[in-house]
Amino acid sequence: QHEAREQIIEAHELAAKLYHYILMNTVHGQEALAYLRERSFSDKLIEQFQMGYAPPQWDTLVQLLMKRNFPLRLMEQGGLISARHQQEGFVDRFRDRVMFPIWDRNGKVVGFSGRIMGEGQPKYLNSPETMVFNKSKLLYNLHQARPQIKRTGQVVLFEGFADVIQAWNGEVLNGVATMGTALTQEHVTALKRLTDRVVICFDGDDAGQASTLKSVPMLEAGGLHVAVAMLPDRLDPDEYLKKYGAERFRHTILAAAVTPAKFQLLSLRKHHTLLEDDGKRRYMDEAMKVIAPIDSPAEREMHLKELSAQVDISLEALKQECFEVRQKLQ
Ligand code: GTP
Ligand code: MN
Ligand code: MN
Ligand code: MN
Ligand code: MN
Repeated sequence: QHEAREQIIEAHELAAKLYHYILMNTVHGQEALAYLRERSFSDKLIEQFQMGYAPPQWDTLVQLLMKRNFPLRLMEQGGLISARHQQEGFVDRFRDRVMFPIWDRNGKVVGFSGRIMGEGQPKYLNSPETMVFNKSKLLYNLHQARPQIKRTGQVVLFEGFADVIQAWNGEVLNGVATMGTALTQEHVTALKRLTDRVVICFDGDDAGQASTLKSVPMLEAGGLHVAVAMLPDRLDPDEYLKKYGAERFRHTILAAAVTPAKFQLLSLRKHHTLLEDDGKRRYMDEAMKVIAPIDSPAEREMHLKELSAQVDISLEALKQECFEVRQKLQ
């Protein structure tokens, strides 16, 4: 079992080198290289994150693995190649995709995510779950981000690994991401081992907001202090960084991260119209559920003041209402 794991990891390291070589040093990689540069991934970033290209041929990697005497059945279990249907032999799992190696916490390549160039499904093809690649545990870039997480005392949690990479380019060196799966208890535990402060910086679209709302209570239950960095215009961090630059990302997005309560109130405000009394009432009830449990009286009052202006109800009345909701909570 140990031997099998070692061989699978060794093959991944080899595959990463192959894909990277094809990208950087052959004509077959030219289109992929142009794609990456078009996306503002500099050559320095391409090196740092060992990006590569898997060519369209059926058996580029299979041939190399055979030449190096890797057992192909095991390589199939490792998710690098697939058994042919109704025929002998194997084919490469990843073909005609830009390749992103995925490292475990020790910096060993344990999987890949391959992006299609342009439109098409699936946008990202990931390695399957294997004995070395476990998506519910793995945090992308943890091996490189660890020192800066310790130094700054906080970690930035992104939704996509492309965001992690682009943020790294903008000198945000403490970013990690899940591999497209929802945050799990195991992710939370892994983060808590390194720090107790998390800044969530998910995509600015509805999906990103929804995942933020789901992730906050999990992180808090794990004993982490959470802040939420919000992006305008449904942008994701990658897009924002390219549009507005790293300075502005660090100073007006990350540094301006808000409390989870503030984030929830802002998202409630977006989803309610305050034009008639009914809408105001519903908004107020929902907002009160967020405000009432807050421990700090000053923070509660701050939110109540804002709410008072929004729904045009006196601060006194809202304080009384808040007091009553708090009583019910105890
Ligand atoms: P780009 O379009 O390349 O900028 O990707 P993104 O980072 O903006 O990805 P997106 O916000 O669409 O999704 C976030 C994360 O979800 C990605 O980093 C992937 O891990 C995962 N993901 C997205 N699309 C797919 C898919 O088609 N298949 C799988 N398995 N995962 C995906
Ligand atoms: Mn290189
Ligand atoms: Mn998204
Ligand atoms: Mn995105
Ligand atoms: Mn993106």
